[in-house]
Amino acid sequence: MKAKTSILITGGAGFIGSHLVRLFVKKYPQYQIYNLDNLTYAGNLENLKDIEDLPNYKFIKGDIVDQEFINEIFDTYKFDRVIHLAAESHVDRSIEDPLAFVMTNVIGTMNLLNAFKSLWKNDFKNKLFYHISTDEVYGSLGTEGLFTEETSYDPNSPYSASKASSDHFVRAYGETYGMPYIISNCSNNYGPHQFPEKLIPLFINNILNGKALPVYGDGNYTRDWLFVIDHAEAIDLIFHKGIIKETYNIGGFNEWKNIDLVKLLCQQMDSKLARPKGTSEALITYVKDRPGHDLRYAIDANKLKSELGWEPSVTFEEGLEKTISWYLENEKWLNHVTSGAYQDYYKLQYQQ
Ligand code: NAD
Ligand code: DAU
Repeated sequence: MKAKTSILITGGAGFIGSHLVRLFVKKYPQYQIYNLDNLTYAGNLENLKDIEDLPNYKFIKGDIVDQEFINEIFDTYKFDRVIHLAAESHVDRSIEDPLAFVMTNVIGTMNLLNAFKSLWKNDFKNKLFYHISTDEVYGSLGTEGLFTEETSYDPNSPYSASKASSDHFVRAYGETYGMPYIISNCSNNYGPHQFPEKLIPLFINNILNGKALPVYGDGNYTRDWLFVIDHAEAIDLIFHKGIIKETYNIGGFNEWKNIDLVKLLCQQMDSKLARPKGTSEALITYVKDRPGHDLRYAIDANKLKSELGWEPSVTFEEGLEKTISWYLENEKWLNHVTSGAYQDYYKLQYQQ
């Protein structure tokens, strides 16, 4: 008989995963948390320095694409529950190398599903496979409307197609083998520890270095932004109170056109850095558009709000302010992750 519930969190060294691991390790000493991560360019154990010595935490380095390895660790640790975040997560990279996204996001998820199924031999009492997905699987909205849990899947990028595929397999394992699963689909996250390839940390880093701010197309694309800690709290709530076989949309009730967001970021950066107003905005440069660029994402998170009582805890202005402060106080982290291979990525993506 195992003393503690054993929970596998995949991708726990990444942006959202590290916030989730920290929350679970600190809040639930009765759980044994295993963080499985391959430490790709996006994974960084520095994100978890403050909890790495706690007794209910263990890091396992490994690749979810390696089925033999995955079977071995399931056999060793007999995970009761899985929260699956490990993924290739950046749309622009998926346009350059779609197959890498199929391998990790589809095959990797299949390997975890198969290992979970064979460990529990189809007896899933008190077990859970919680799959973390994205609102991008729903495709693009026009200027009106919101994504609900009933919106049909209509992915447009190789990234969102790979996430949609993995969602379908999770659901299929639930229907076919009775595997207890939950899926949540979240909007754009921002906050500390996000790798500076995504819009907000990329632009913070460029402002710090006096570099151009490359706005794709006309900048009139819309995203719904959520502070990462609010996402981690939503996952915690859904993990404990969500209903098996249900989907939950998570969003910030917070839509911004890219160009308006960038201008707000520029104003906050000028003020933090005590630079004359307009200094950062002068760096805005319109560049060629992302192929297949989705016009608008916006989440209806009312199911989560009304059924489980979740609400975002910070306004966007507060969250952005906290985020900027974190990057300014952690320039060492920023310089570390933007050295080496990051420079090659930047040259390829932005041709400069
Ligand atoms: P991230 O890119 O910051 O982190 C991904 C983590 O997965 C990294 O630590 C990486 O090392 C690990 N990983 C990648 N390939 C792996 C492999 N083959 N084996 C083991 N580990 C591997 O991503 P994120 O932004 O934290 O996103 C986490 C999850 O949340 C993803 O599934 C993503 O699709 C989803 N999501 C992200 C957002 C967002 O705005 N960032 C929004 C909604 C959903
Ligand atoms: O909606 C959830 C998704 O949000 C997650 O599933 C993805 O993992 C995450 O990367 C994010 O996807 P986006 O493509 O929306 O995020 P990104 O930060 O790459 O881009 C946000 C918007 O900013 C988008 O309209 C493209 C634009 N953009 C982005 C970059 C990197 C620019 O204009 N310039 C840029 O240099």
